Amino acid sequence: MAIAGIDRGSHVLVFPYPAQGHMLSLLDLTHQLAVRGVFITILVTPNNLPALSSLLSAHPTTIATLVLPLPPHPSIPPGIENTKDLPASGFKSLMVALGDLHNPLLDWFRNHPTPPVAIVSDMFLGWTHHLACQLGIPRYTFSPSGALALSVILSLWRYPPKRADPRNENEMIRFPKVPNSPEYPWWQLSPVYRSYVEGDPTSEFIKDGLLANFASWGIVINSFTELERVYIDYLKEELGHDRVFAVGPLLPPANKTIERGGPSSKSILSWLDTCEAQSVVYVCFGTQAVLTNNQMAVVAMGLEKSLVKFVWSVKEPTVGHVAGEYGKIPAGFEDRVAGRGVVVTGWAPQVAILSHDAVGAFLTHCGWNSIMEAVAAEVLMLTWPMSADQFSNATLLHELKMGIKASEGPQTVPDSGQLSELFSKSVSDKTRGESERAKEFGWAAKEAISENGSSWKEFDRLVVNFSH
Ligand SMILES: *[C@@H]1O[C@H](CO)[C@@H](O)[C@H](O)[C@H]1NC(C)=O
Ligand SMILES: *[C@@H]1O[C@H](CO)[C@@H](O)[C@H](O)[C@H]1NC(C)=O
Ligand SMILES: *[C@@H]1O[C@H](CO)[C@@H](O)[C@H](O)[C@H]1NC(C)=O
Repeated sequence: MAIAGIDRGSHVLVFPYPAQGHMLSLLDLTHQLAVRGVFITILVTPNNLPALSSLLSAHPTTIATLVLPLPPHPSIPPGIENTKDLPASGFKSLMVALGDLHNPLLDWFRNHPTPPVAIVSDMFLGWTHHLACQLGIPRYTFSPSGALALSVILSLWRYPPKRADPRNENEMIRFPKVPNSPEYPWWQLSPVYRSYVEGDPTSEFIKDGLLANFASWGIVINSFTELERVYIDYLKEELGHDRVFAVGPLLPPANKTIERGGPSSKSILSWLDTCEAQSVVYVCFGTQAVLTNNQMAVVAMGLEKSLVKFVWSVKEPTVGHVAGEYGKIPAGFEDRVAGRGVVVTGWAPQVAILSHDAVGAFLTHCGWNSIMEAVAAEVLMLTWPMSADQFSNATLLHELKMGIKASEGPQTVPDSGQLSELFSKSVSDKTRGESERAKEFGWAAKEAISENGSSWKEFDRLVVNFSH
């Protein structure tokens, strides 16, 4: 296994959690580690192996794979190994099933001639902290969310808030220790936390894993100092050490951005080439959220009335959606907006779209990866957080004045008139203030990841840890 030029001491195990939003950014991180000469083994289950293909072909001699079968779980059908093929609640079962890899992984380590000297694993794999302790090596938690998100999660599990009235979903929960004292109604808090049942084995396993994340040797965050300094400092203070590494924004290598889209990629990008700078609104609600038909109708009407140019990436309903109630593009819509807008079903090359000069605003569900991509692309965000863990992402954008609220909540149907006004405002002079802020943070993001920038240095600081 020895590889010329690679220090034996810098072999690291990377273990992603198989959900799109978690995996892509950890693979982008892995690419960066490989570029810095770290020798890596990536652990995946068999059906997730294809997701590694471009990474493996880019680093044939520095990245190896460890493929272990997914241990069986009563709620996971055989052959299913990724959250995208499970109903929304399936991510917990997958966390539990992956937990059963503890012993096979321990055996692998013990039989390896030059085993990894550190583990970098997703925050949904908190149990790897215990494994690392058994092996006497450091484990680094990978957080696909930002530092504010992580601060709120840490606070929730370390200092569980007392509820005055457990039946009141709207009760405000305050986080006085977190900088800027954020507060959220109960229903907007992490669903993992809200669904915790004391004594229930799944709940206890997940709780233990989340707390283990904070007990781990270090934490690597997909964010950057200039964006979230106060929250990064807060985490260091809470953890009692400074091994919190803000290495973001983690992005695909420049020439890979188009690959992350489907076959329609080239035609969308050439259509954007024909549009004026910052004249297009991009609409996408991420890989999980699917709009109800009422919400679809309102977004369509808003786009139609606003007369703006747009690209709308529409997610088709998947497992767990009642047939016929979700994701329907209103009849005749595409004809009425022909020439002015593009509707993409299936995969859109999001990074390439956002980075295109023509795109000036982005209606987003506020998933952290989307935010990082939009920040790096200097695009103003119109926020519509959907699932219960995206609300603080939206708060951060409002706080930093580079995001404008469009709506919130998975059931809300906003007013199409207001939406239409917001769309036209977002690509006009009326939002110049926010657009300027978005540009400033975009420059800061590019600076952060370029040579000697803050995230660049954080990477160096991280890699130095591996060679000890
Ligand atoms: C931001 O969104 C991501 C999901 O995309 C979530 O994991 C994270 O917890 C959110 N952050 C906050 C602060 O809610
Ligand atoms: C992509 O870019 C990297 C460095 O930026 C380069 O090493 C690689 O050869 C490029 N790949 C292709 C397919 O152009
Ligand atoms: C980065 O820092 C190193 C060491 O201080 C210096 O030699 C190098 O020129 C710097 N690179 C850039 C692009 O500023």
